[in-house]
Amino acid sequence: MRSAVVLFLLLLVAAPLLWLTKQQHEPPAPRDGCPSPRPRVALCFYGLNRALRHTVHGIADKIWKPLHDACAAVDVYYHVWETETAFVDTAARGGERMEVAVGDGAAEMVKLLRPFGARGMTEKQAAFDAAFALNASSYAALDRRYAGPNFRNLMRQLESLRRVAALWRRSGVSYEAVVYARPDLKFLDAIDAGQVLAVPSKTILDPYWHRWSGLNDRVLVCSRDAAAVVAARIELAPAYAARTFLRAESFLQFVVRAHGLRVGDLALRAQRVRADGAVASNDLCLEYCSPARRDVCRGDCRRLSPEPAPLAAWAAKQKARDDAKRRAGTLRHGVPRADRVGIQ
Ligand SMILES: *[C@@H]1O[C@H](CO)[C@@H](O)[C@H](O)[C@H]1NC(C)=O
Repeated sequence: MRSAVVLFLLLLVAAPLLWLTKQQHEPPAPRDGCPSPRPRVALCFYGLNRALRHTVHGIADKIWKPLHDACAAVDVYYHVWETETAFVDTAARGGERMEVAVGDGAAEMVKLLRPFGARGMTEKQAAFDAAFALNASSYAALDRRYAGPNFRNLMRQLESLRRVAALWRRSGVSYEAVVYARPDLKFLDAIDAGQVLAVPSKTILDPYWHRWSGLNDRVLVCSRDAAAVVAARIELAPAYAARTFLRAESFLQFVVRAHGLRVGDLALRAQRVRADGAVASNDLCLEYCSPARRDVCRGDCRRLSPEPAPLAAWAAKQKARDDAKRRAGTLRHGVPRADRVGIQ
């Protein structure tokens, strides 16, 4: 009898402990004092995955947690391309560059985002490439730069963005804000959850850094209405590309203007990380950026770093072309107006 009472008491103590241990594998409960229902935010990842194992902890600490601590319920979505082979990247080993196979990026993304309760899909990149072949050749007929790998990768990325947006849109949830981010970003700041939850309608929050010729397209916070049109921007690409060379940043700025969206500054720095975990050389200088230096950081922040990194090959070529055009007095700055590209 006495032992039965002891057992009963033990169970009383042990049950909540067992329950607590189990809870650690679930997202933590919202903190006290949250409104009910909680505001909801969609956090969307898209494109190719090569580096998520290096960035996922930062996503949890710098994006997911601040939103959660501000009472938001965060729904994570992804769309990721499956590539034919395990992708390879180069890594420095003993002073030499060598190729390293790092496995199936799509499978890795599914696995690493599972603890977030993420919903998403993986699709074959080759199938998209095949469906896009006709479009690709009409782009290439406009400008031979469209036949190159940068443009092809941009189109794949924009299509993946369109598809991930279809997922949150189909959910029927009325999100306060939608965050779109590349999966290879190492965040240097915590997201300002108050700013995210208060984003006015028809507004995007865009990083103040690396806007180059337009707006930074690596991480965006959008109001629900802006999020739908921004993610579908590949639909405006043919008309835009027919009028002026399509670059990721100037194209985003064009789309934002075409839809009459407002742009606010997002004080969230993030560096692109390669498959081997190294930060992209062009992004190292973001360490020295702050909103007070947005004048410099809007373009090339390497002016701030003590040891400027060498230009990447494509950037060196582009710089040479821009310099040549500038000398000839033909470099046009800014973005064409919507009506000149035939978009209402
Ligand atoms: C090709 O372009 C057409 C016209 O812009 C578009 O409707 C279609 O979705 C594009 N196809 C693909 C696979 O992107």
